[in-house]
This record gives sequence, C-alpha cells and structure tokens, in this order.
Amino acid sequence: MHSVARLLSLVALCIQAGASPTPASSAAAAAVSVKLNGLTYINKGLVAFGLIPSDFRESIGDTLGGIGSGIAFKFGTWLKSASGTYSGTLIAQPDRGFNVDGTTDYQSRRHEIDFVLTPYTGSAALSFADAQKTLALTYKSTILGFERNNTKTSGLDPLAIRPAQSGFPGVPAADPELPLAATSEPHLAVDAEGIVANSDGTFWVSDEYGPYIYLVGADGHLIQTIQPPRAILPLTKKGALNFTAQVNPKTGRNANQGFEGLTLDASTQTLYAMLQSATIQDGGDDKSTSRFTRLLAYDVSAPATRRPPLVGEWVVPLPLSDKGNTQACSEIHFVSPGLFLALSRDGDGRSGDDNNSKYRQADLFDISKATDIHGTKFDDPANPIADDGDLDKSIKAANYVSFLSMIDKDQLARFSLHNGKPDDPTLLNAKWESLALAPVDDPAFPNDFFLFTASDNDFISTKGVASGKPFNAGADIDNQFLVFRVTLPSVSPGSVHRTIGAQL
Ligand SMILES: *[C@@H]1O[C@H](CO)[C@@H](O)[C@H](O)[C@H]1NC(C)=O
Ligand SMILES: *[C@@H]1O[C@H](CO)[C@@H](O)[C@H](O)[C@H]1NC(C)=O
Ligand SMILES: *[C@@H]1O[C@H](CO)[C@@H](O)[C@H](O)[C@H]1NC(C)=O
Repeated sequence: MHSVARLLSLVALCIQAGASPTPASSAAAAAVSVKLNGLTYINKGLVAFGLIPSDFRESIGDTLGGIGSGIAFKFGTWLKSASGTYSGTLIAQPDRGFNVDGTTDYQSRRHEIDFVLTPYTGSAALSFADAQKTLALTYKSTILGFERNNTKTSGLDPLAIRPAQSGFPGVPAADPELPLAATSEPHLAVDAEGIVANSDGTFWVSDEYGPYIYLVGADGHLIQTIQPPRAILPLTKKGALNFTAQVNPKTGRNANQGFEGLTLDASTQTLYAMLQSATIQDGGDDKSTSRFTRLLAYDVSAPATRRPPLVGEWVVPLPLSDKGNTQACSEIHFVSPGLFLALSRDGDGRSGDDNNSKYRQADLFDISKATDIHGTKFDDPANPIADDGDLDKSIKAANYVSFLSMIDKDQLARFSLHNGKPDDPTLLNAKWESLALAPVDDPAFPNDFFLFTASDNDFISTKGVASGKPFNAGADIDNQFLVFRVTLPSVSPGSVHRTIGAQL
C-alpha cells in the first residue's frame, strides 16, 4: 500500500500538469476535478464505509432506520487523533417511520451516533467485513420530538390542519397553519428530512408535509416554525391548504418532494432550504418537466426574537437522465457564499426499482449569477417560474456542475461494494439523502474535507419494530454510510462545524 501523502502529492502533480487522471483503483488515483469560477474542486475518492444492521433497535425499542434522511455533526465533537483517525458524533434523522404499507403514528426523533473514521486510501480490495471497520459506528442515544406542551409529533399523513394561532410564551410570532395527524388528539405531523445541528444544541429540521422548517430544542421540543411563500404551500384548486402527501396539490410542493435539502451558513446565520424538485405549477407533476426547483434563504440570526425573514430565492436546474427525466435532489450543503453541494440521484440501487443506479452524485451549484426572485410575483402560485418546465425568460437559473459520482465501480470495489446486480448486502442502497462536511486537517492540503453521506433504508427489516409493534418488511436493508475525500478550494468558515477552535 502506498502512503496517503505520496498518493496525494502525485494527484497534485497530475493536476498541476493538467494531465487527465488515469483510471486506477486507489482513492487518490481516482481523483476527478472540475473547474468552477477559476477554482479546481477535486474528488479524491472513497475513503470509508460504515454500516448499522437493518434490525438494530434504538433505546426507544424501535428499529433504527431511515437515518440517512439527514445527518449533521454534533457541534464540537469532531476530533483528529495523532494516529490519523478521526472521531465524533453524528446526529442522524429518520423521516416519518416505516411506511411501506401507509404512514404510521411514528414520533419524530433524532439519534446520536458515535463514529471512528479510519480513512482507507489503498488500492487493494478490503473484505466486506474489513471495509466496515473504516467507519465504525456506535449508536448512543435518541431524542424524541414533541410540541411545546409535550404532545408527541406523528408521522401520519396530515389530513387535518390546525389554524394559525399565537400566544405561546417565548414564540415571537403566531404559529402558521400546521399539518396535523387526524388522531383522537391532534398531533403535529412531521416528515423530517434535512437537519442542521446548531452550536447551542438546537436543530433546524426541514419537512416534506408543510413543507416547513422547524426550530427544535436540544430536548426535542418545537420552538418555532418557518412557513414558506404561498407558491410553495400545497394548495387546492380553491386556494385552500391541504397538507396530505397521498395526492398532489393543485399548486405548491409535489407530494413527497418537499424540503429535502437544508443547510446553514453558520458565519452569516443564513439557512438554506431546497425542494426536492419543482413545484406543481413549475412543472413538478411530471419527471420530464420537474427540473427547475427552488432554493430559499432565511436570515436565522435572531430566531428567539423574530420569525426568520425570507432573504433570497433562486432557481436551481437539476440534472436530467438520458431519457430527460429529473434527477431529484435529496440534500444540499453550503460550501461558500453562493456555492453549494447537491446530492442528486435516481431511485435505483438496493431496494430501488432497479439494482443499477445510473446517477448518484454530489454535484456543485453556484447561485452567484442567478436571479434572486424572493418577494417577486413568483411567490404567488399564479405565476410559475417554469410553466410546463420552460423557465421564464426573466429568470437566470443557478450554474449546476457535475462533480462526484458515488457509484464509481472501481472505488466501490476497494470496499467490496458494488452498483447493479446481484441484489445482496454489498449492493449500495437506493436512497442516499444526506451530506455532512468535516475538515481533514492535513497541513499539506488545507482545503481537503471529508464528505459523509448516509442512506435512508426505509426501516426495511424482516425483524422490524415500529412504535412498539413488530413488522416484517420482507427484506433486510442495512443502514449504509460512505465517506469521500474532496478538495473544496473556496470553503468558507460558515460551512464546516468546527471542533477545538481551529481557524477555518
Ligand atoms: C397541545 O397543544 C396543541 C396546540 O398547540 C393542542 O392541539 C393540544 O390539544 C394540546 N395538547 C395537550 C395535551 O394539552
Ligand atoms: C385533504 O385532502 C384529503 C384527500 O384528498 C381529504 O381526505 C382531507 O379531508 C383534506 N383535508 C382538509 C383539511 O381539507
Ligand atoms: C436485482 O438482481 C437480482 C439478482 O441478484 C435479480 O433477481 C432481481 O430481479 C434484480 N432486480 C431488478 C429490479 O432487476
């Protein structure tokens, strides 16, 4: 095995010389670079794989599943050891629980999972058992989700609505209309997707039903709600709200294509949320016209004293398959002002429609030259940004650039993983929905970062337990994690949650 430093310096030489990377199978040799605004972004390859078995149960007694819907590093936990390993705590967030046979009364929650990362950069293929040691994961604890008065949240489809109301102590403005599970006691219905872990222990959580953004306390209690503009709310023909995800609204977010992406620029306290694909009026009712999605920005610098104002809104053109269908976006991550990573993909892989995924990437997009449409006529659903998928001529969309493929055959083979048949535990899962960035802290490569991603296994286990009741989903799909090493030359301080006072 070559030393990491040697391989990385070879990559640097290769890039300086402008040579095209030779296909070979070590992490560094797989480096692929893209140029954006004069800077070079490099994918240095897969460096770790981790797994939590499909039947693992958390402290509540339920199956630990769906955890790749959102991940974030717990603030201040990232540590580099003298021996070159890294450790920390991930906050992992499942969505609305096991719902293959309809939604259930699953209380929203967040899990703390400790990890030790031992990056592997060699070219020899590790056995599947040894591959799992490169990202060793240890479940620690679970925080359940509640409303202010200790009422549990629910994963049930929100057929009911709680009217807007005010008067909560410590809440600076009235709560907007909220999606409710129509149970005997009405519970706030949450289909959680994106997560941001704040330095004070609170969380921003994005949801697909509203689609809303919630501020949640360290103890799991709801603190505040952000309601997006009317163009994004699910409205009926008569312009009434209906949050159900069983049918598409007439305008607003597509059912199950809500705020999948959520990320924070911590230095300016700007929170960004992105819809998985276009709203219905923007072409979202068909995969062939749904690529023009919206990214929203909120100023969350004073969430305790005022409702966060909308401060920006841009159109992001998602990638297309060779059949012209949208590769919807499951997560975003802030990199530097105007620049983001985007996890866009098809729905194939283990437990998907097909074993073979054709597109699963961490791409880059840049909004610095895109039109800011917030507060314009486009926030009214009567004025689509892309009628039938044709972008309005007055709008310039973000610049979307292909970057890192998660399904590179040679990279996966180094960890005994694969894409395409056979359908077995070494096949990568279909649904990857999370991104988290942490610094490598390598003085030779100060702009190198680890990019973590985890998959949502939809709680699929033959020995499952949901809200205390056993279930058999007919298959066992483990919770899989991947870690890549990347060079992001423009990274700014707000993009990475730091540990021990390092300088980024
Ligand atoms: C909790 O508050 C919600 C309104 O926010 C209300 O619908 C519900 O009935 C309350 N539950 C209890 C147990 O007080
Ligand atoms: C929303 O629509 C669903 C199904 O179309 C219906 O059952 C439900 O009653 C509606 N909810 C409201 C609040 O109108
Ligand atoms: C996936 O591969 C398995 C073989 O391992 C095959 O039996 C199955 O039909 C394939 N699934 C699809 C959807 O093609």
